[in-house]
Amino acid sequence: MLNQEVYDKVTAAFAAKFGGKPAAVAYAPGRIEVLGNHTDYNEGFVFSAAIDKGTFFAASPADDDTVTLVALDINGGETYSCKLADVKKVESGSTWANYPLGTFNWLFDGEPAKAGKGFKAVFGGNIPLGAGLSSSAALEMSTVLALAKIYGVEKDKTTLAKIGQKAEHTFAGCPCGLLDQASSLYGKEGALVKSDFRTCEFENVPMGDAVAFMMVKSNAKHALVDGAYASRRQACEDAAKYFAGVLRHPVTHLRDVSTAEWVLYRGGLPETTAKRAIHPIGEDERVLQGAVLLEKGDVAGFGSLMFDSHESSRNWFENSCEELDTIVDAAKAIPEVLGARLSGGGFGGSCCLLVRPEAADKIAAQITQAYKTAYGDEPTCAVIKPSAGAHLVNA
Ligand code: GLA
Repeated sequence: MLNQEVYDKVTAAFAAKFGGKPAAVAYAPGRIEVLGNHTDYNEGFVFSAAIDKGTFFAASPADDDTVTLVALDINGGETYSCKLADVKKVESGSTWANYPLGTFNWLFDGEPAKAGKGFKAVFGGNIPLGAGLSSSAALEMSTVLALAKIYGVEKDKTTLAKIGQKAEHTFAGCPCGLLDQASSLYGKEGALVKSDFRTCEFENVPMGDAVAFMMVKSNAKHALVDGAYASRRQACEDAAKYFAGVLRHPVTHLRDVSTAEWVLYRGGLPETTAKRAIHPIGEDERVLQGAVLLEKGDVAGFGSLMFDSHESSRNWFENSCEELDTIVDAAKAIPEVLGARLSGGGFGGSCCLLVRPEAADKIAAQITQAYKTAYGDEPTCAVIKPSAGAHLVNA
């Protein structure tokens, strides 16, 4: 469904359910992660891009203290409703409500009663779920923009991103970094977002028309709430503590450790922790190298770093899986694919390919064939245009 169609559907459903026009409508896109995996919570660097699909969140203030949420894409329009005083994590049933509820909660610093009145909202989108395209961050960022507007709350973009991240941590149960929310807010048409998660500086880097991205969605499960993501994050934090003790310069996160230091001192770490640690350390170095290559227009060099990134996931961080490896291996054999790697948390989900756009159909056909031969079913391939970030839309 096109974005305009989603907008029409959301505003029509709002009119049907609540009558009239919403006071605010916000749009927020999903994201692809291009280079720099599991670096965000290690205060490192990432290249990402906002995609051309997203979520629309239409809202108006309520007359009383009731919060009403309608999720158009769940069971044909599921509704969740509670009083301001009862805004808290939904433990079972309509757990989808945790994303907008948690965002609302943290927009008011954990005291939703401060909002004074409730709100009524309808949301819907066109990001495929479970594909590793951050549909949850798109929901959080469209929620936060629309609610900030209707309650007259003014906050800068990075603070808004952190509100969504806090909703993930406390309401949705995923200890994610800030990548997904920041990419959704700072995206720009035709450009990558280069993020520094220590300084929270977000820069747009133009990509040019000679290359495009293709996302290939495996059919392997992608669930970040089930502990694998959290255990990787814990290993990184343990390793940072160790390096803080053995290196003579300050270390608070793996961002502060180089590959050379890891080689020298890894012996003091348990084997698995050492394996996990080298992934974000190497990814930071690849992102910085990638920035230099992009500046020189060396897209092939940039693509090679994407292949290296996947090898690091496969061998060290072990957040790949057979299906994603099959996609990357098939991609490697196609000359018009310049780079390929898993995108996002891992353990299933999608791969991000850097491709020559004129060969997109051939690439999709060859990868589909290789995947089908291995697993019997077909992956979903889509060319992705780096697109504008989240914004308010006229209601
Ligand atoms: C998920 C998380 C992000 C980031 C990526 C891996 O998408 O939500 O914060 O950690 O995984 O880079």
